Amino acid sequence: MAANKIITVFGATGAQGGAVAQTFLQDLKLKSEWTVRAVTRDTTKESARKLASQGAEIISANLNDKSTLVKAMTGATAVYGVTNYWDTMDKQGEFQQGKNLVDAAKEAGVEHFIWSSLLNVTKLSNGKLPNVYHFDSKAKVEEYARQNGIPATFFLPGFYMSNIPGVAFRPGPPNNAWTFGLPVPETAPLPLFDTADTGKFVKAIVLRRDELLGKRIFGATAYLTGKEVVESFKNAFPEAGKTASYFSMPQDMYLRVLKSKGLPDFAALELLENMLLLDQFGYYGGAKLDESHSILEDKLTTWDEYIKKSKAFQGLN
Ligand SMILES: NC(=O)c1ccc[n+]([C@@H]2O[C@H](COP(=O)([O-])OP(=O)(O)OC[C@H]3O[C@@H](n4cnc5c(N)ncnc54)[C@H](OP(=O)(O)O)[C@@H]3O)[C@@H](O)[C@H]2O)c1
Repeated sequence: MAANKIITVFGATGAQGGAVAQTFLQDLKLKSEWTVRAVTRDTTKESARKLASQGAEIISANLNDKSTLVKAMTGATAVYGVTNYWDTMDKQGEFQQGKNLVDAAKEAGVEHFIWSSLLNVTKLSNGKLPNVYHFDSKAKVEEYARQNGIPATFFLPGFYMSNIPGVAFRPGPPNNAWTFGLPVPETAPLPLFDTADTGKFVKAIVLRRDELLGKRIFGATAYLTGKEVVESFKNAFPEAGKTASYFSMPQDMYLRVLKSKGLPDFAALELLENMLLLDQFGYYGGAKLDESHSILEDKLTTWDEYIKKSKAFQGLN
């Protein structure tokens, strides 16, 4: 059958959108019915050319320019929309980009807009954590999409597994012991998510469009505590695991580390509050994952599987 439906994928050269593009290009159920229209600001870059060689249509558009978004969405049945807060760290800018996406989806008459959303942490925490801008701004876009009445489903990616190996979990002084350090107790639940699984969720959302309009889907494999993350590491790599441990980092130390890497003060505080959210209110406000898992046809990547393929852990035993 000819590929007669188009999915416009924003962020197609990145982690989430890239995974969505791969699923729609390769999945046996989807590839005969769907064409991937991959969006990038630079159609000449390597990742865009690779997508083209796999059969995707490549289109140039910029989230800051609504007219380019309308063009990218015209004729599309579904759209995956994602913004990258960390490009500019501008909360108003991120909201404006998301608003542009919603307005363009409305103008282009898109039948199914899938928004990469997150919760409003200021509201969830009753104002105790008012600085997690990259969550709040995405939640405000979700609110705007609901008010606008566009047919939409909201996909909320969990805590990236890629934040852990070699980043928050790495060898540290004095004896190079593997240490997983976050500014929360070892019992804080992390909803772990392999971004490569984004397409599995978006596939299910598209296939079950009617029942999932207006719904939130939580994109995570499982909640694991910091302690459990380290336990898995110890099981996978008994030698390196001998001295591995979880470190509940003091908050001022966490801020200092982030600032020493060049993060501005407000963004360091933002990430600290982002972590405190895990322990104090829950990344998804304490919601279970069962309902989101129930829509899936494809198995999600577990943390045990992820650590085996992680580059930062290669060569350990
Ligand atoms: N780290 C976590 O644990 C976590 C958890 C949940 C959610 N998130 C959220 O995930 C988002 C990032 O998604 P990701 O990881 O998929 O990002 P990524 O891998 O860094 O890729 C970013 C993508 O956005 C595109 N892009 C950026 N600015 C654009 C613009 N002005 N116009 C058009 N396209 C633009 C880029 O395309 P080109 O460069 O090719 O144009 C690229 O494809 C962030 O907003 C973050 O808050 C992160």
